[in-house]
Amino acid sequence: RGTGGLAPDLAGRHVVVSAGGTREPLDPVRFLGNRSSGRQGYALARTAVARGARVTLLAANTALPDPAGADVVRVGTTVELQDAVLKAAADADAVVMAAAVADFRPVTYVTGKIKKKEDRDPEPIALTRNPDILAGISADRPRPGQVVVGFAAETDDVLANGRAKLARKGCDLLVVNEVGESKAFGSDGNEAVVLTAGGREVPVPYGPKEALADVVWDLVAESLG
Ligand code: CTP
Ligand code: CA
Repeated sequence: RGTGGLAPDLAGRHVVVSAGGTREPLDPVRFLGNRSSGRQGYALARTAVARGARVTLLAANTALPDPAGADVVRVGTTVELQDAVLKAAADADAVVMAAAVADFRPVTYVTGKIKKKEDRDPEPIALTRNPDILAGISADRPRPGQVVVGFAAETDDVLANGRAKLARKGCDLLVVNEVGESKAFGSDGNEAVVLTAGGREVPVPYGPKEALADVVWDLVAESLG
């Protein structure tokens, strides 16, 4: 562990963390987005720096101070995040997808602001699917032995949905949050279960986002051996 004066267990490792939420522009002033603040991803970046890693933080639309010691790359859309992940992951030991990624984007970007019409309803917005960055990198690891971690927020059947999602994505670890009033989005703390591809369930009681981040890095370090 990097804390408490012990040898930093991520020294010599390069880790990539995505944080925040991607936004898909509709016109110059509007976008489709989500409520992710980026705080869990920033906590992951800070704790990885403290444990000795070289950290690349891919920040999607966050409004948080850059974590000291991390390389921060700013992105907007899902496609931009995908490009940044693929670039940073080429020599990474671990990739942690804490960002909330927009599943869909508008088919067309309207170059002038969409105006309302006096006597007509607006045109419907046609959407198309975004690439699944986590599934793509899990299936085709840029570096052999790389550890890939996903996050999921679920409202119902948290463990069953989480287990199915871990299998579908093909990642090594999935951090599953139950979405509730004081949990996950925009709050200071987090409570989660970390599912491993090997079938383990590691519960993390409600606490600071750094505490959950340290459990993730413990499991990543264990996987890296
Ligand atoms: N993710 C991704 N690319 C996407 C969508 C999601 O890389 N296009 C990643 C997220 O960063 C997260 C994980 O996949 O680490 C799970 O995201 P989630 O939205 O829970 O998964 P989905 O497969 O999109 O399922 P759902 O239909 O529940 O939204
Ligand atoms: Ca999704």
